[in-house]
Amino acid sequence: MMQIAVTAASGRLGQATLKALSACADPANIIGVARDPGRINVPGIDKRDGDYDSVEQMTSALDGIDTMVMISAPVATGTDRIKMHRNVIEAAKQAGVRKVIYTSVIGGPEAEGTRFAKSQQLNRQAEADLAVSGLEWIIARNGLYLELDLGHIIRANESGVYRNNGGDGRCGYISIDELAFATAALATSDACNGRILNLTSENKTQAELVELANEVFGLHVRYEPITVEQNIERFMADEKIAARGEEVVNMLSGCFECIEQGAFDVPGNFSEAAGRAPKSIREQFEEIRARG
Ligand SMILES: NC(=O)c1ccc[n+]([C@@H]2O[C@H](COP(=O)([O-])OP(=O)(O)OC[C@H]3O[C@@H](n4cnc5c(N)ncnc54)[C@H](OP(=O)(O)O)[C@@H]3O)[C@@H](O)[C@H]2O)c1
Repeated sequence: MMQIAVTAASGRLGQATLKALSACADPANIIGVARDPGRINVPGIDKRDGDYDSVEQMTSALDGIDTMVMISAPVATGTDRIKMHRNVIEAAKQAGVRKVIYTSVIGGPEAEGTRFAKSQQLNRQAEADLAVSGLEWIIARNGLYLELDLGHIIRANESGVYRNNGGDGRCGYISIDELAFATAALATSDACNGRILNLTSENKTQAELVELANEVFGLHVRYEPITVEQNIERFMADEKIAARGEEVVNMLSGCFECIEQGAFDVPGNFSEAAGRAPKSIREQFEEIRARG
């Protein structure tokens, strides 16, 4: 039976993808690979040790795997994410993996010159490395996680004002569960092999997103655009965000620069990937609300 592995599987997208795969394939043929597999809370699947820093460990983790979902490495101070992705691609080759789905990020050329450019570039590098690897591939360029910005908006309800440097730009948002659904579909069919697909639902401005969140979550928040410098200051004053370090603060502010510049206002290919239309942002908000 065809075995499907998800790597860096102990995070949000990894676990959601394993759950989505378990719903459409036999869990006995699904493998979660992580630095600490004990953190994968998906029943019935096989779990293996795999650190992106070790080609050797990743190669044994991928033994017998036909299709691998390679989750992009997270921003962390002192890590070389280009190298990590290369390690995983090399391990896939050595292990005889047939096909790789890489969870990249959306974004047009307007991202150049923003504080997100480095993150975008390293994702594009992984895409390029995969394209010349000799493996079959699909690039799933993920829209921005709806849950993350919703979390910011909910937290802003206390002051009643949500500020960032996204301005009037539109951004392709999508929930992690919707991404997982589409990724599982890509992993279980060869229909989209060799394609670069933008996995987004609706493209919304910050003000529109806030308005919808107000309606669905009963909030009273208004959106106020600020400059990127002001946003960096705001993030640095937020204990939770500042604790993740300057690189993350810059990357997050850079995301909003991309939104403002229109870099994330991309056409979506979700339906082609998933075999159904994406849920609306309202439906996704309602699902998140229902989950509590
Ligand atoms: N589209 C978006 O809006 C958006 C937002 C945030 C992030 N992202 C990108 O999408 C990726 C997945 O998102 P997520 O929400 O699932 O991230 P997440 O919850 O932060 O999970 C990151 C995963 O990477 C793993 N990891 C870290 N270092 C590793 C290493 N050396 N070897 C193997 N695994 C390692 C973590 O393992 P541990 O459990 O061991 O730490 C965890 O499983 C992120 O890594 C980031 O590149 C996209």
